[in-house]
Amino acid sequence: MTTRLVSPKPTEDESTFELSLRPKRLAEYIGQDKIKQNLAILLQAAQARNEAIDHVLLYGPPGLGKTTLANIIANEMHVAIKTTSGPAIERPGDLAAILTNLRAGDVLFIDEVHRLSRAVEEVLYPAMEDFQLDLIIGKGPSARSLRLKLPRFTLIGATTRYAMMSAPLRDRFGAIYRLDYYDLAAMETIVRRSASILGVPIDDGGVTEIASRARGTPRVANRLLRRVRDYAQVRADGTITAQVARAALAMLEVDALGLDEIDRKVLRTIIEKFDGGPVGLETIAASISEEADTIMDVYEPYLLQLGFLDRTPRGRVATRRAYEHLGIKYPDAGQERLL
Ligand SMILES: Nc1ncnc2c1ncn2[C@@H]1O[C@H](COP(=O)(O)OP(=O)(O)OP(=O)(O)O)[C@@H](O)[C@H]1O
Ligand SMILES: [Mg+2]
Repeated sequence: MTTRLVSPKPTEDESTFELSLRPKRLAEYIGQDKIKQNLAILLQAAQARNEAIDHVLLYGPPGLGKTTLANIIANEMHVAIKTTSGPAIERPGDLAAILTNLRAGDVLFIDEVHRLSRAVEEVLYPAMEDFQLDLIIGKGPSARSLRLKLPRFTLIGATTRYAMMSAPLRDRFGAIYRLDYYDLAAMETIVRRSASILGVPIDDGGVTEIASRARGTPRVANRLLRRVRDYAQVRADGTITAQVARAALAMLEVDALGLDEIDRKVLRTIIEKFDGGPVGLETIAASISEEADTIMDVYEPYLLQLGFLDRTPRGRVATRRAYEHLGIKYPDAGQERLL
């Protein structure tokens, strides 16, 4: 499988690069102003009381800065952060081992928190609520339960699938923040900041061109910047201007709204094979040989955000804007649509 240039998920070789661009302080974190204001209060109040902050849940599409925020919280609180993920914690014992190794105030960051197993969640509830660990030692008639006291830690959970989290788990987070796609101004600031850290010469036109094609997603902006930088070095004098960025992105097949071939294929399939919909997600997935989950997590959120797709009870519908973007004539009301 080739990796998509505009995928909001990280590619394998991207982690060191991302690390170098990741803001470390809340003040450096661009956009998401409401979350920042709320978090600043949470942090300041906890610091004044010399306590760990409340458990925080961060949710929203991939690549918007959940992991970054979790690290910023730990950094601002001057505590250690231990990072793991829902699927990595296989058994209750794994979680117990992690929890008993935390020190007071530490942050435990669980990515993909919606993927914790039921058995692990059961252990997590009293740990979050009462900072207690209830363990069963041994098996059968000789089994006995053991209660351990835990240090006051902060759990930060992150998920792209809020709806898939169990209600009891959600209820145990004191603060829940939803990250949203960034607006153009924030995206421009992010591109400018990253270019300056990487030492890439770029002018205002170049910044806008990259920012507007990055799907409101910082991870995508940083990746596009890196690719356009290469192009600018090889095909121009190294400086990213609007013209250089446009040429580079055209060559990389990322259009003016940041859509790539697969996005267009999803839209074209709905329009051309299914008369614009409604058509079920599974059907779309089968006809473009993708997994339904991938479409739902990776492609669809941005198409919904652009207003190119509608979700209806009977399936997905391509909107007039989608037709217009692809240059396909929108069917006149009353004809093709009334079968
Ligand atoms: N507010 C921001 N300001 C500047 N850069 C940001 C911001 N948010 C994210 N980034 C950049 O985007 C990259 C991706 O962010 P991050 O890894 O935190 O996303 P995520 O939401 O955890 O994604 P995933 O759902 O895939 O885990 C980071 O390396 C960082 O450089
Ligand atoms: Mg992350």
